[in-house]
Amino acid sequence: MSGAATNGYDVNRIRADFPILGMKVYGKPLVYLDNAASAQKPKAVLDRIDKAYTSEYANVHRGLHYLANEATEAYEGAREKVAAFLNAARKEEIVFTRNATEAINLVAYTFGRERIKPGDEIVLSIMEHHSNIVPWHFLRERQGAVIKWAPVDDEGHFLLDEFEKLLTPRTKMVAITHMSNMLGTMVPVKEVARIAHARGIPVLFDGAQGAVHLDVDVRDIDCDFYVFTGHKLYGPTGIGVLYGKYEHLTAMPPFNGGGEMIREVFEDRITYGEPPHKFEAGTPSIVQAIGLGAAIDYVAAVGKAGIRNHEAGLMRYAHDRLREINSLRILGTTKDKGPIVSFEMKGAHPHDVATIIDRSGVAVRAGTHCVMPLLSRFGLTATCRASFAMYNSREEVDCLAQALLKAQSMLG
Ligand SMILES: Cc1ncc(COP(=O)(O)O)c(C=O)c1O
Repeated sequence: MSGAATNGYDVNRIRADFPILGMKVYGKPLVYLDNAASAQKPKAVLDRIDKAYTSEYANVHRGLHYLANEATEAYEGAREKVAAFLNAARKEEIVFTRNATEAINLVAYTFGRERIKPGDEIVLSIMEHHSNIVPWHFLRERQGAVIKWAPVDDEGHFLLDEFEKLLTPRTKMVAITHMSNMLGTMVPVKEVARIAHARGIPVLFDGAQGAVHLDVDVRDIDCDFYVFTGHKLYGPTGIGVLYGKYEHLTAMPPFNGGGEMIREVFEDRITYGEPPHKFEAGTPSIVQAIGLGAAIDYVAAVGKAGIRNHEAGLMRYAHDRLREINSLRILGTTKDKGPIVSFEMKGAHPHDVATIIDRSGVAVRAGTHCVMPLLSRFGLTATCRASFAMYNSREEVDCLAQALLKAQSMLG
């Protein structure tokens, strides 16, 4: 793969940190372009997980012995890393969850359910992942909430004016993605928060994609909630993050009940612990949180600005190469989009396209990408999606283009 280092960004050196990228599939070098679904893990994260299990492992918060202290320190250290990563005001604003999905459910079940009465409105965007739709549909089904959808134009731009028009005195929640997982569209989150807050409406942003590719400063954005998921950020599965303003977390009722989230339990009453522990019932994903902390360190060491620049270059190059293939239509053509390229091949089912190019070692996603309302907006039922990470190269984009040409000749 490419040996050239541009502007000090050496993709080959980075690739060497990811053991799985050296793999061959069907005798061909793996070209992994399914990063928006889940990213591969650098050795630094794998080693950190190994160390946590081999020399620091015990349950957290409960023991008075050496290993319990080591594990608790590492787990709480990871919380501090996440707080710094998001520029949260304090580490107690960081709740560990299983994934982004659970973090959104937590907000819908606690904050949402308390506030939303029959006829109250929740504003989402048409680009939302099902994770940021279904929990709000539950409130529609169970509480009689009304869901409204902020539109996008044909290129995929989020339409701020149209969004603003949807807000009414009945709007009780805005929940919108930071970056679309199908179109790559970036949402102007700071503006969205400002417009919503001017009407006293709280805002949640789904950063499952955004936190991977963009700098996130929750205090600058001034959001009420921000969620992301570890496995897309080069960390392990089983760990997600909910950032919530401390005043909200304090006022919210708990989510799951069990050990660690209580202060006292009596036969006839209970009292709850303080945030974030109030929302972390049971044994948490200890090692996964520690692994996420290592992933955050790794991303910081490579440098987010360099990663973003590299990914943007790949994305532009991929657009150029894919435009040369006349049967392809690219969805999502906003100028500053994230490194996600969705496309359809005329006359071919995306599953067939993905299956054929897989034989050339090229891994892309094909299907609904958990964004059915967005697909309907574009009159589609599925697309193929290539999504780039810090370790992808231009040569891999060439492999994708070549494999697609082959698929075109087989399916066309
Ligand atoms: C925009 C967006 N939101 C939420 C999610 C859900 O992430 P998880 O499955 O880790 O909860 C995804 C995952 O694809 C996503 O892309």
